[in-house]
Amino acid sequence: MYKLTFGTPETHVPSRYCPHFSYTETPVSFPTEQIRFRVNSRGCVLSFPLEADTQIYGFGLQLKQFNHKGRKLKLSVNADPALPTGDSHAPVPFFVTNKGWGIYVDTARYAEFYCGNQMNPSYGGSSAVHPVQADAETNTPADNTDDLYALRELSGQVMTIQIPGCEGVDIYIIEGKNITDIVARYNMLSGGGCDVPDWGLGVLYRCYTKYTADRVIAMADEFREKDIPLHIIGLEPGWQTHTYSCSYVWSDLYPDPAGFLAEMKKRDVHVNLWQHAFTHPTSPIHDDIAPYSGDTLVWGGVVPDFTLPEARAIFRDYQKNVLVDAGIDGFKLDECDSSDNTGSWSFPLSTRFPSGMDGEQYHSLFGTLYAQVLMEALGDTKTLSEIRNMGALAASYPFVLYSDLYDHKDFIRGVTTSSFSGLLWSPEVRDARTKEELIRRLQVVVFSVQCLINAWYCPDVPWRELDCEAEVKELLKLREALMPRLIEAFRLYRETGIPPVRALVMDWTQDPEVWNMDDEYMFCADLLVAPIAADTGNTRKVYLPAGEWEDYFTGEAIAAGWHEVTTDGIPVYRKR
Ligand code: GAL
Repeated sequence: MYKLTFGTPETHVPSRYCPHFSYTETPVSFPTEQIRFRVNSRGCVLSFPLEADTQIYGFGLQLKQFNHKGRKLKLSVNADPALPTGDSHAPVPFFVTNKGWGIYVDTARYAEFYCGNQMNPSYGGSSAVHPVQADAETNTPADNTDDLYALRELSGQVMTIQIPGCEGVDIYIIEGKNITDIVARYNMLSGGGCDVPDWGLGVLYRCYTKYTADRVIAMADEFREKDIPLHIIGLEPGWQTHTYSCSYVWSDLYPDPAGFLAEMKKRDVHVNLWQHAFTHPTSPIHDDIAPYSGDTLVWGGVVPDFTLPEARAIFRDYQKNVLVDAGIDGFKLDECDSSDNTGSWSFPLSTRFPSGMDGEQYHSLFGTLYAQVLMEALGDTKTLSEIRNMGALAASYPFVLYSDLYDHKDFIRGVTTSSFSGLLWSPEVRDARTKEELIRRLQVVVFSVQCLINAWYCPDVPWRELDCEAEVKELLKLREALMPRLIEAFRLYRETGIPPVRALVMDWTQDPEVWNMDDEYMFCADLLVAPIAADTGNTRKVYLPAGEWEDYFTGEAIAAGWHEVTTDGIPVYRKR
């Protein structure tokens, strides 16, 4: 790990707000002398040559693209990424390569990364820019767009990073023997992976937002009577008197919160509450927190500046005294991202916060700061909660990302891409048009870090009308059987930074077959999961990298290499 400072870095950067930030400096073999830095009218720019064949991964949760080689990304916080442009619920300015190094750029700005562009070596004399390494390109005219675009990508030889609105930046070069090793070191930079309770890895069912306390209790009873695994029930907006923005006060659907929570406890079911941080005028904390909030409102609510001790204390103490002390041990921290594509419902980038941050910086830090405040409220109570925005240096927060989007291939890709950046991702199942779709989605949910059924708009459990309770129960039982493995994987995550879920290129970095593999992943230490996406039939090609493998369900030995697999189940292989 090697830190380099260019120009004058800003004050409001992720490392400043990361309580466990620490590292030991060691020399690196990366040619640091080749990094060029300049300040321009848009901010500052870093650039350095890329070796031919450099594959590039990371930048946070990326639902639309796996390998970023040759592409441009702008790391904007956006809950509705439509294209592979870098927009994300959780963008992170950290990327890794197949060349033994990765770089963390310590910025809360919406930085742009050109993962391969060319420079003119004649510009301002040869020392001003990097020389272009010639590619072994042929000059045959392409007669289709695939070949044409591949040719363009071949010419990317320099990485250019434009960081707006600042005159300098710190970067950290992290090296390792493979990508897993580099990511583990990045995760240790912020204190290692999160500490989660065993039950947090069980089944989380979020129920219909309009349920009453009695209806929720009846539902828990039904799960218990039918022996369907259930560890956590999530309550959606209906539990509050006002939700967009939030009051954090129990609504009349829950006339006796203490009694309700006691009933849940009797059934050994944990309760997780939905909320967001935009604080409504009817909230008991509104008047106190408003002066420590930004200069714009969201849904009529103030946006607390969680970098200020005053705002943190007001929010934390209320959540602790009213909710955590009453028995709540999980939260769903919603809407802390933003959207550019579904109206401008969040705060603008020009928003001013009392700490001196602007909206752009605060968007990049909002999720992690919000998670910190809730963790302070939880105190010694462990959790595995949910959140819709995360940023840099977030491995130690026990919060899992989720989305309102629902494309199943994108959700599977999210499992693989989140693993590069110290993030956890939930490919949640909600409702489905067919039994096949529900089961395919649930198969992936069972083999992910959080087993989440988010039925927030479903008046009944989504499997009843699709008539597949037995299949659902079997999959949730399978999840229970996987819990000891996950508990061990999270122990390793905490102690070493090695993530519990990994894209194949992380462990097999030198194998070109997996450089673009966005739909297979390692789950815990030894399972390779190759899900079949909903609505794609029941056959797929599966690649098993070098090693000894067996079918997880039958124990049958399977050779490394490519296989065509046909099944209604989920293909899973155990590494011997
Ligand atoms: C969305 C969230 C959903 C659900 C809904 C309730 O923002 O992503 O999962 O909680 O709010 O209003």
